[in-house]
Amino acid sequence: MYLDCAVFENYRNIVHFPFSFDPGINILYGKNAQGKTNVIEGIYFFGSGKSFRHAKERDLIREGENHSQISIAYVDAVRENKMSVRFFRDMSKEMFKNGIKIGRTSNFIGNFRAVLFCPEHLAIVKNDPSERRAFLDHAISQIDRSYLSALMEHKRLLEQRNALLKSENETKESFWMTLDILSERLAVCAAAITKIRAEYLKRLFDHACVLVQQMTEGREKIDVRYLSHIAGDAIEELFDKKGNEERYRRLMYENRKREVLAGTTIAGAHRDDFEIRLLGKNAKIFASQGQQRSIALAMKLAEGEIAREESGEYPVFLLDDVLSELDGERKKFVLSELSGRQVILTTCDEGDFSEIDEAKRIFVENGTYSYR
Ligand SMILES: Nc1ncnc2c1ncn2[C@@H]1O[C@H](COP(=O)(O)OP(=O)(O)OP(=O)(O)O)[C@@H](O)[C@H]1O
Ligand SMILES: [Mg+2]
Repeated sequence: MYLDCAVFENYRNIVHFPFSFDPGINILYGKNAQGKTNVIEGIYFFGSGKSFRHAKERDLIREGENHSQISIAYVDAVRENKMSVRFFRDMSKEMFKNGIKIGRTSNFIGNFRAVLFCPEHLAIVKNDPSERRAFLDHAISQIDRSYLSALMEHKRLLEQRNALLKSENETKESFWMTLDILSERLAVCAAAITKIRAEYLKRLFDHACVLVQQMTEGREKIDVRYLSHIAGDAIEELFDKKGNEERYRRLMYENRKREVLAGTTIAGAHRDDFEIRLLGKNAKIFASQGQQRSIALAMKLAEGEIAREESGEYPVFLLDDVLSELDGERKKFVLSELSGRQVILTTCDEGDFSEIDEAKRIFVENGTYSYR
């Protein structure tokens, strides 16, 4: 899949610009605060249905204007498609695909597919478990629509169960009956989620491990450990949904008195995490900034690989400000790995990419763009 063109109108600091992209490498370069990330953000909106910078949609409208619009044309294995989105000041928006209005964001996403990698993604390696869960949940929901509904069901059940645990009604018989019912439902739902996450993680790291080794000519080896409340070291144990159910059931039963005291569900899929290890040590603590960046990038490339296995074609790779800080060897590997795929990347220093001949170069200055 590749993005052929994108027309931005009154989006952030862009008054109007019709971009045309190459199916290969595209480099947006320019000084800080000129409008490079704005382009990546606008394109990625078509992949995820929201701003990856967590911006409110009205912030996407150029100051002083009433609405903004982005239209794209992309080519997939079947045909060329057109999509557009219009944002209004009152926070409403209109979305279209091939001229037909789309009502729900869930029908808007899943058409144009992109993998984004930006500096914030280092958080996957460095930060709290919630960042890693968010990464997994996002990546899986790109390829499995039913996963999103399972997550929503899980969230709803967890909220109900926590509200009950907080209610201080444990002297009533109905309290324990309701707790049993909610625990049972939560166990079934959590078991499915942990199974899907574990399978995806295994698949992801099968690719990512190879990529990190290639990137460093075999010097660096990574592996992953799934951290859940219901299994030991072997990730494969979690592939058994019925087994997971049983273990979650038991866990909630054993914890129930403590949970009533705490007023919350102590253990479960909502606390799932994973540990990335570099040469056997926790990468969060032992890996250098560049090593962490390489690992996160390998995970993103692996995400693209899985997307291709699922859909038959590569997504578009959007790399915002992430390659410049890798050393020459790693950067070269990443760019050669990405050959044959479309890449749209940003950098402040175009010189970092001077050795690449076949790239489309776009100079960015104050919301205006010129091809060089
Ligand atoms: N709604 C808006 N209306 C007008 N200008 C905006 C709006 N939102 C953001 N901007 C401007 O867009 C610019 C930031 O653009 P962007 O984040 O794309 O920069 P960048 O080129 O990626 O910079 P860096 O290299 O620092 O990452 C800022 O000057 C900001 O003031
Ligand atoms: Mg930027």
